[in-house]
Amino acid sequence: MRAIVCEAFASPKELKISEIDRPEPGPGQVLLRVEATGLGYVDALTVAGLYQIKPPLPFIPGNELSGVIEQAGDDVRHLRQGQRVLASASGGLAEYIALDEARCTPIPESLTHDAAASFLVNYCTAFHGFNYCGNLKEKETVLILGGSGGVGMAAIDVARAMGARVIAAASTKKKRDACLEAGADAVINYAAKDWRNELKAALDGNPLDVVYDPVGGEFSEPALRSLAPDGRFLVVGFAAGDIPRITINLLLLKRCSMVGVNWGGHVAQNPSASREVLTTLLEWIAAGKLQPASGEVFGLKDTGKAMMKMLERKAVGKIVIHPQE
Ligand SMILES: NC(=O)c1ccc[n+]([C@@H]2O[C@H](COP(=O)([O-])OP(=O)(O)OC[C@H]3O[C@@H](n4cnc5c(N)ncnc54)[C@H](OP(=O)(O)O)[C@@H]3O)[C@@H](O)[C@H]2O)c1
Repeated sequence: MRAIVCEAFASPKELKISEIDRPEPGPGQVLLRVEATGLGYVDALTVAGLYQIKPPLPFIPGNELSGVIEQAGDDVRHLRQGQRVLASASGGLAEYIALDEARCTPIPESLTHDAAASFLVNYCTAFHGFNYCGNLKEKETVLILGGSGGVGMAAIDVARAMGARVIAAASTKKKRDACLEAGADAVINYAAKDWRNELKAALDGNPLDVVYDPVGGEFSEPALRSLAPDGRFLVVGFAAGDIPRITINLLLLKRCSMVGVNWGGHVAQNPSASREVLTTLLEWIAAGKLQPASGEVFGLKDTGKAMMKMLERKAVGKIVIHPQE
């Protein structure tokens, strides 16, 4: 079968397709034909060797996927051949993957493979961030930095579903238009020097209650300074590269709090959280409260190109790879 095998940490431009043996499912496992694999900024950093966690080489990148069960062993209890499922598992950039039954979640017919592969990490992170870390309430106002990225778009959808008013920040008109299409109530250009004035105008006299920040760098502190008393600043990621250093008297002066959002860490400590959050999100999808969507779609051979788009700040939405193409 075809797969992307990362032999050495290097620019994603160097990634190539390799021919490797199709995996054999072991006891309690299914063989999945992978239809779509969602890419995050983390995947591009990992391939380049720039992420804090370095997997042992060689490895197949790709951590969230959707597909159809090709083969299910006799001891597999809850899944059957032909069923559509999503899963979080490393090795998603391959035509097939063998997975423990417990890792797979059946998906409704209404959810496309592209949307399913775009949804798992970013929607769970947003739900966990707003609900558990940020205590977001209906009618509150949220500012989402990097609103057009994979994490940002999911945050727009989840915050809207929770009844919040959403202001999304993005650096280009194309990206801001994508935020509006994803459901943001207002957008601002945080690449502009005076972007806090733009934010003030968008707030229209209302308090800023929550900031959701997957970007970091120079954007975090002005966003923190814009929070209302009792506001919550959610630290999600650092796509800009720099980790800001905030002087903590600012929290005292603004009477606000900063909370770290680490979905992976939370699940590692509370394994049942994943199933609970996923069940809620799938119910919201079925009820039409959420509309997960993918961004640009690429074939397997263009995986490197797709990852470079993220590193070069050119991606809009969650990028998806079709391993069968
Ligand atoms: N905490 C968690 O549990 C969790 C879970 C998933 C992901 N994350 C983190 O969230 C961050 C975003 O991931 P993502 O998959 O959404 O990435 P993405 O799709 O590439 O989006 C990142 C956004 O950051 C903005 N940005 C600003 N400066 C940038 C730069 N120098 N290079 C690239 N982008 C820049 C871009 O928007 P503009 O051009 O509009 O600025 C871009 O849309 C990553 O740091 C990731 O590690 C955290």
